[in-house]
Amino acid sequence: MTGGGDSSSGWQSTEAGVLWEPAASQAALAEPDSDLPLRGCFVTGTDTEVGKTAVSAGLLHALGCHGLRVAGYKPVAAGAVWCSAASGPGGHWHNEDVEALHAASNIELTRSEVCPCLLEEACAPHLAARLEGGRIEPRVLIDGARRLMPRCDALVVEGVGGFCVPLVEAEEGSDAEDWGADDLACALDLPVILVVGVRLGCINHSLLTAQAITARGLRLAGWIANRVDPDMTHAQDNIDTLTRALQGRHGAPLLGVVDYLVPVTAARVADQLDLDALLKALGLGD
Ligand SMILES: Nc1ncnc2c1ncn2[C@@H]1O[C@H](COP(=O)(O)OP(=O)(O)OP(=O)(O)O)[C@@H](O)[C@H]1O
Ligand SMILES: [Mg+2]
Repeated sequence: MTGGGDSSSGWQSTEAGVLWEPAASQAALAEPDSDLPLRGCFVTGTDTEVGKTAVSAGLLHALGCHGLRVAGYKPVAAGAVWCSAASGPGGHWHNEDVEALHAASNIELTRSEVCPCLLEEACAPHLAARLEGGRIEPRVLIDGARRLMPRCDALVVEGVGGFCVPLVEAEEGSDAEDWGADDLACALDLPVILVVGVRLGCINHSLLTAQAITARGLRLAGWIANRVDPDMTHAQDNIDTLTRALQGRHGAPLLGVVDYLVPVTAARVADQLDLDALLKALGLGD
């Protein structure tokens, strides 16, 4: 894999091939304050491609319009292409989730602050890291969030894939277990928002995901119905069923129904969120 430095973000290809921060700038990063509780939310989804990024950008926009300093954070992103600068030797690694969260944040951030672990291959992260000869380092993902917190009022952390996606494979022969997105959510200890891609099968996927979230001792702060399939029949009935089940079993309110939107922008998604319910759910109200 060919790597390229990005003077603004510090990304480069390491020996291991993962697009980490270079060791020198990692060392130069401030020690994160591990006592500072994180505020904001961890956004997970019923699956990959259900609208976590679209909704996370909408959440950032809505909270930012309310006057909060907000930062988007994507701990791990898989799928990056090198974009050369229009002129000169520079360039940067491009990933759509990172760009969307970077654009929707309202504090100054580098791309590598938004995403400290960028992998080139667009596949399951532990596989992408393996393909590139590297391993994802949990401490980098946790510290990245902690470093942002002192500079903002709320962090919106977009999870990776579904809730239980593995990120780090246990060493062969070791007794340790894989470490995944659910473990990351526990380490960050943020309230969780579940994005439900409203399509056939979403009731089962939502209930299983909600169960997994609360089984880990995390608070399911609410859920957002995202109408990714404009042709789905009985969509409202599905949403009604989930509204009852998620409120009844987990105390999780519906925080918005996002229509099928073309184009999907952070502002248009934000318009469809219930801001008062969101602030209350995240404990960010006055
Ligand atoms: N409400 C919507 N209306 C129309 N298109 C949508 C909507 N929400 C998401 N999409 C589209 O669906 C696709 C997947 O959305 P998005 O990238 O937000 O999903 P994701 O869950 O973040 O995926 P990943 O797991 O890859 O991070 C994108 O092309 C996005 O533009
Ligand atoms: Mg995404």
